[in-house]
Amino acid sequence: MTDTKRLYLELLKKSLTNFLYAEYEKGPPFIPKGIIKKLITNFFASKGFSVVYNKKDYKRIRINGQDWPEFAPTMVGLKRLDNIQYCIEDILKNDIKGDFIEAGVWRGGVGIFMNALLKVNDVTDRLVWMADSFEGLPTPDGKEYPEDTGLDLHTIKFLSVSIEQVKENFKKYDLLNNKVRFLKGWFKDTLPKIPVKKLALVRCDGDMYESTMDILVNLYPKLSLGGYVIVDDYWSMTACRRATRDFRKQKNIKDKIMRIDESSVFWQRLA
Ligand SMILES: C[S@@+](CC[C@H](N)C(=O)[O-])C[C@H]1O[C@@H](n2cnc3c(N)ncnc32)[C@H](O)[C@@H]1O
Repeated sequence: MTDTKRLYLELLKKSLTNFLYAEYEKGPPFIPKGIIKKLITNFFASKGFSVVYNKKDYKRIRINGQDWPEFAPTMVGLKRLDNIQYCIEDILKNDIKGDFIEAGVWRGGVGIFMNALLKVNDVTDRLVWMADSFEGLPTPDGKEYPEDTGLDLHTIKFLSVSIEQVKENFKKYDLLNNKVRFLKGWFKDTLPKIPVKKLALVRCDGDMYESTMDILVNLYPKLSLGGYVIVDDYWSMTACRRATRDFRKQKNIKDKIMRIDESSVFWQRLA
């Protein structure tokens, strides 16, 4: 790859994470636990104020993707973007067949980066799939998935980004083209019907047990040997880690899990 392409990708990662201007972002929204904190937060919200966490050590946080950024098109940090680049370059080098999918899109930054990697490598025979409700997370189904009980992420508006907004973000980077496909709806409804024969990269970023399981159950059978699975919330969300472990156990998957950063892991499908 030429120096110019490398420079573009490095700058793109810094832009997608807003690493360059991280110190100007305010902290993530405060999520109250307990009635009194909820009442106080709601009181401020009703007056038009938002309660946010203090943010320190911006650069380290954005390198490791440990916050919900105010402006950045992705909440994953630089290390996870480096990991995506590593996986895609390896897939292309070894001609592992299949498309790429980001399941759990939020503002779309990861898909923008995947599509940029297709572009700089002159790849025209693969697609980037963006699967999301584009309405935030599902209400936890504690009966079916006890691990999700109390995981009320569906109440957090910050996590809900419309498909129009995501397309707008792709446009800002001149990467909304015929290589990107949007799959709108709950994973349990859309992923069983995804019109894809082979996948080379499956990125799971749905946080919850149910969402992670829906991604793995429906997409793993399509993953080519030599392809990669990335689990974004393996270390940061117990429910996600349990779903991943349960799935691997059910399918007797022994491929080695490798750590990316303090939240995420990946493995290469070898069997
Ligand atoms: C943590 S955010 C993803 C962050 C994103 N990958 C990034 O780069 O910043 C989780 C996303 O998963 C979506 N999501 C979670 N569970 C889902 C489900 N079961 N069906 C559809 N979308 C889901 C949410 O709407 C949200 O956009």
